[in-house]
Amino acid sequence: MQLISTIAEMRALRSSAANGKMVGLVPTMGYLHAGHISHVERARAADDLVAVSIFVNPTQFGPSEDFSRYPHDMESDLKLLEQAGVDWVFAPDAEEMYPQGYTTYVDVLGVTAVLEGAARLGHFRGVATVVAKLFNIVQPHHAYFGQKDAQQAVVIRKMVRELNFPVEIVVGETVRAADGLAMSSRNIYLGTHERKAALVLHKSLEAVGELWDRGERRGSALREAMSRTLAAEPLARPDYVSVANPQTLLELDDSGDAHQALASLAVRIGDTRLIDNFVLGEG
Ligand code: PAJ
Repeated sequence: MQLISTIAEMRALRSSAANGKMVGLVPTMGYLHAGHISHVERARAADDLVAVSIFVNPTQFGPSEDFSRYPHDMESDLKLLEQAGVDWVFAPDAEEMYPQGYTTYVDVLGVTAVLEGAARLGHFRGVATVVAKLFNIVQPHHAYFGQKDAQQAVVIRKMVRELNFPVEIVVGETVRAADGLAMSSRNIYLGTHERKAALVLHKSLEAVGELWDRGERRGSALREAMSRTLAAEPLARPDYVSVANPQTLLELDDSGDAHQALASLAVRIGDTRLIDNFVLGEG
């Protein structure tokens, strides 16, 4: 496994890869957990060369967000990636990716106006920009993302389609702890009581899932089931609850004709903001 910190070196390695070798990229911000590793494993099975990027991308954090305290443990990350059989770890610093005077950004409109995009202004501009840069630097055939960040996956797919990146996007399912909490690098922020309270996100998704399975298709009733579950947890402060069309991310109305929906939510537990989602009507 090679650890690479400059764009020039990453490009040189990429272009020395033999013609016909398939390259997979797993973009991350580090502090890796089983969710990240699930994407590495999928890449390992499908591609000849697997690259993982570790870069806490400053442009996707708002001024009052956790950029400066985002958790990191490079030693543990490298150990996990080595065990998982990764070929290249691309870990540039901020100056390498955004040198003095940097002014070029990728803005995906429409699908970024709601949910995470509405709650975190400028977030997806930072995400789309860094992912576009990573695609240009690593030039992967496949890039692997998690359904955990459902809107991010929608935004990246749209960017790839509309800017004609020759990359196939693969979205892998959400990996959870045994009790249902979705794995997240930010779970480390949670104290003992908060960790228990955080289960309310999954409970709320189970509640809406049960209602959907019983045939409820009215958006307002489905959202109400999520809000009711959240209201029972005193440590939870909901940012939003949503039951939306999985492609357009527009909220389901009460006409009852939806065949699939994305139930998603963002909740603050103490100072920690967590997100999670279920796809309803899958398979
Ligand atoms: P990060 O939060 O480190 O996540 C990296 C990838 O892992 C994302 O595609 C995310 O959806 C996926 N992931 C996170 N938690 C997961 C879980 N519990 N199960 C499965 N997959 C999970 O998302 C980012 O970084 C950044 O926005 C990035 C795309 C790297 C751009 O900076």
